[in-house]
Amino acid sequence: MKTSMGVTVFSVCLFAAACAAAPPVNPGGPGHLPPPAPTGFDNASNGVTDDATHQVDQGKFDEFEEISDGLGPLYNAQSCRECHQNPVSGGPSQVLELRVGHKGHDGVFENPEIPINGGAEVIKGRSLVNQRAIGPNGAFPTTDIQERVPDSENIRTFRISVNLLGDGFVEAVDDSTLIELSKKQCKETHGRICGLALYVPVVESPGTTRIGRFGWKDQHASLLSFAGDAYLNEMGITNALFPDEVTNLCNTVSEPNNKPEADGLADIDHFTRFVRATKAPARDARQAATPAARKGEALFARIGCETCHAPTLVTAATGTVVNGGKYAIPEALGNKSFHPYSDYLLHDVGTGDGIAIAMEEHYGKKMYQIKWKNLSLENHRSSAYKLRTAPLWGVRTHPMLMHDGASLTFREAILRHRGEASDVTRHFEQLSQADQQAIVEFLKSL
Ligand code: HEC
Ligand code: HEC
Repeated sequence: MKTSMGVTVFSVCLFAAACAAAPPVNPGGPGHLPPPAPTGFDNASNGVTDDATHQVDQGKFDEFEEISDGLGPLYNAQSCRECHQNPVSGGPSQVLELRVGHKGHDGVFENPEIPINGGAEVIKGRSLVNQRAIGPNGAFPTTDIQERVPDSENIRTFRISVNLLGDGFVEAVDDSTLIELSKKQCKETHGRICGLALYVPVVESPGTTRIGRFGWKDQHASLLSFAGDAYLNEMGITNALFPDEVTNLCNTVSEPNNKPEADGLADIDHFTRFVRATKAPARDARQAATPAARKGEALFARIGCETCHAPTLVTAATGTVVNGGKYAIPEALGNKSFHPYSDYLLHDVGTGDGIAIAMEEHYGKKMYQIKWKNLSLENHRSSAYKLRTAPLWGVRTHPMLMHDGASLTFREAILRHRGEASDVTRHFEQLSQADQQAIVEFLKSL
């Protein structure tokens, strides 16, 4: 009973009704993990809502918007599901987005300036280039508002649509967990691998920040912030968090969707609750049980992939208030362990696209009028050559890998890792062909 902390905690839980008050469990201690997050591709709720409510929220996420609903003027797709669907709503997809920009005189990345409608207006403040527009149309037959890339914008990349399933658990991870992970990996690798934990604005709580964990650049910490950002920048639909249209050319509809309905929820609240209630991606149990995948799992840990692709994280306790005071973690998400295979930190693995986080695009046009606690513009700029460790849960559901979707096999994706990952990639290259293949077999089970 006195031999280890774990045994002591165990007996407290056995003999007193104080289990809930037990100290936080170390994710490193197998056998002492909190209950696992539910997994599955079954469209059922993880417990945040009942299944009927989850279906209603999914209906909003799946819904196609038209011009009469406020779609555009500039947009990328008509529904969230168009880009987040495989194999069920909330999964990833093959849809690639276009981001561009250029370097200023000081060598620092600058957002593009994109003239539309024959130069009548210039779109600024974002690196995203919308690939669709509602005009020209019947009402505006000569208003050509399609964005196209000017030759001056010579820094360019594609970014592929990511998985959202299980992201409610990611949002429920405490900042301190991510900061500790960064310190631990930096110490253990003698400074070779030091992920950046980036404080980002929580848009629904002006002035507050939290460690970013969503998007290829960790540009958001809150799923509500992300939903508001996506509704405007992907679909052109303004909302309470992002009230300003990207352009007013061809815009005739003042968005009906930004007003709360009878239940008090606006569309972005439904999207957010939908994502929060999704189950984590399930493993392929048959593949995971093969001798090769099991060997690959051990090698993945041994050669250092786990330093960044952290297999297990634990969420904060139920009731913990996060997102600048706007969100109390519900029981279904509190104190759960889950297996995302990511540290959610930003790393330079040599694949950086040179494009820094676009502040006004992601945090709203008033971004610079607000003083945000802990915000470092320098750190935001350093995101240009960094990317979030891609979470590997559900990686078997999409064949185009890495931020730009340009790596088509697991081997190619692994061999592209340089920079902070150089030592680990070398270890991979030094493995026998069979051992390299074992790691691939393991990835196929995730
Ligand atoms: C045109 C495709 C497209 C549409 C439409 C779209 N998304 Fe996304 N989504 C993306 C891409 C691409 C990313 C990665 C963004 C990045 O970091 O550049 C992403 C990332 C996200 C993330 C972050 C997930 C994570 O773990 O990093 C959330 C949350 C999200 N989208 C929610 C939504 C919601 C809600 C809608 C509907 C309002 C929506 N998206 C519509 C393409 C799309
Ligand atoms: C220094 C941190 C780090 C290490 C070490 C590391 N990775 Fe990664 N990994 C990343 C980052 C960052 C990305 C995203 C890079 C990009 O999109 O350009 C990534 C992406 C990937 C992807 C693509 C996933 C997707 O959804 O597209 C795979 C597969 C992968 N890593 C496997 C591995 C394996 C296997 C190892 C060990 C041999 C490894 N990684 C070691 C940080 C790391």
